[in-house]
Formats: sequence, structure tokens, C-alpha cells
Amino acid sequence: MHCRYIPGYLRNIGPKFLEKFYKNFMALPGGVILVSGEGEEISGYIAGYTPADSLFMSLARESRLSLVFSVLFHILLNPGETGELLELARYGGRVKVPGVDGELFFIALEPPARKSGAADQLVEEACKILAEKGAKKIKVSADKENRGPNILLERLGFEPVGEFPFRGRPQNLYVRTAIRNR
Ligand SMILES: CC(C)(COP(=O)(O)OP(=O)(O)OC[C@H]1O[C@@H](n2cnc3c(N)ncnc32)[C@H](O)[C@@H]1OP(=O)(O)O)[C@@H](O)C(=O)NCCC(=O)NCCS
Repeated sequence: MHCRYIPGYLRNIGPKFLEKFYKNFMALPGGVILVSGEGEEISGYIAGYTPADSLFMSLARESRLSLVFSVLFHILLNPGETGELLELARYGGRVKVPGVDGELFFIALEPPARKSGAADQLVEEACKILAEKGAKKIKVSADKENRGPNILLERLGFEPVGEFPFRGRPQNLYVRTAIRNR
């Protein structure tokens, strides 16, 4: 699903890398990966992490650098992508928000599962688990031109707190308490 629906650099590295990436992500104590669907059929997922701004460093450390080596190998074969990789590595530091201690990264639903309320459930459940892991405030960003996540986040009470450029495209930055204030 990441390869099909999540724009960005990581999918360039390929499905084998992503498999390793998510396995290691799930094993981190602050990692939250939830899927939606029926029976064996997965129709959507979301990924979050606490504390904020530390996922990539934690992944590099805990995967005993095997993820780093996969990335470096990919860069060796595709040196033209070095700029994009450096931008991704700087991502965390660029969108630091004081008081924020949790983060949502990726959300995707298969097209037939969209417009069903499943996205709301995934976001709320991920925030709840991040709260159980100690996070009080969550941040998330979305490409300004990607209508789906922007509408979803605003509907769920995430407040826009700024904008920043990423991969040459403007991104909205949103913040909300992990447990929603109604
Ligand atoms: C982001 C994403 C998960 C949002 O899921 P979604 O189901 O499309 O989003 P919403 O829950 O906001 O639903 C979309 C519409 O269905 C409506 N809807 C939501 N729940 C509903 C329900 N239970 N019944 C009827 N309609 C519903 C919403 O009001 C919204 O309507 P609108 O477009 O008129 O405002 C989905 O668009 C997606 O997978 N996109 C591709 C991946 C991506 O870009 N991810 C973000 C970057 S990580």
C-alpha cells in the first residue's frame, strides 16, 4: 500500500526496503502501526511514532544499521537521488513544534474503503495508542494539494499551525491533542 499510495522518497527504494522498514518500525516501543480491513483482507493502514522527530534515528539504531545500508546501497545505484534523501533526513528537524511529543506519518486506504469512516477510526485509534505510550500532542503534515488527508485532518480537529516546503511542494503542518478536546 505504501508503494501504491504514499507519495515520497521511501517508495523509490523499493518494496523489499519497505518491508524491512515497517518490520523494524513495528518493533520500536514508540511505534504504532494499525491496519483496517476484514478477515485477512487489509484495506488500510496508519503509522505513528512517539517521541516526535526521532523515528528515523531510532530506526537506524535499532535495525542495527541494516536499513541505513539498504538506503546507502540504493543511493550508490541512484546517485541522482542524493538530494531527495538528504531532504528526507532533515525532515524531522525542520518541522519541530514545541510541546509536540507524537507524530503521525502515513495513512492510506484502498479506494473502495475510502469515504467510509475507516480513516477517522484509524487516526483516532492511532492517537489513542500514542497517548497510552505517553504522547500528549500529535503533529502530522500533509501536502497542501493532496485533498484527502487535509480534509480528514481538519475534520478530526487538527489545527493548521504552519507550512513548510518538502520535495519542492508546500506542506500543511497540523497539531492536535492526542485525545481530542471536544
Ligand atoms: C488520506 C485518506 C486515507 C483519506 O481517506 P478518505 O476515506 O478518503 O477520507 P475521509 O474520511 O475524509 O472521507 C472522504 C469523504 O467521505 C466522507 N465520509 C467519511 N466518512 C463517511 C461515512 N461514514 N459515510 C459517508 N461519507 C463519509 C467525508 O465526509 C469526505 O467527504 P467530502 O470529500 O465531501 O468532504 C485517503 O484519501 C487515501 O488513502 N489517500 C491516498 C494516500 C495518501 O495520500 N495519504 C496521505 C499521505 S501519507
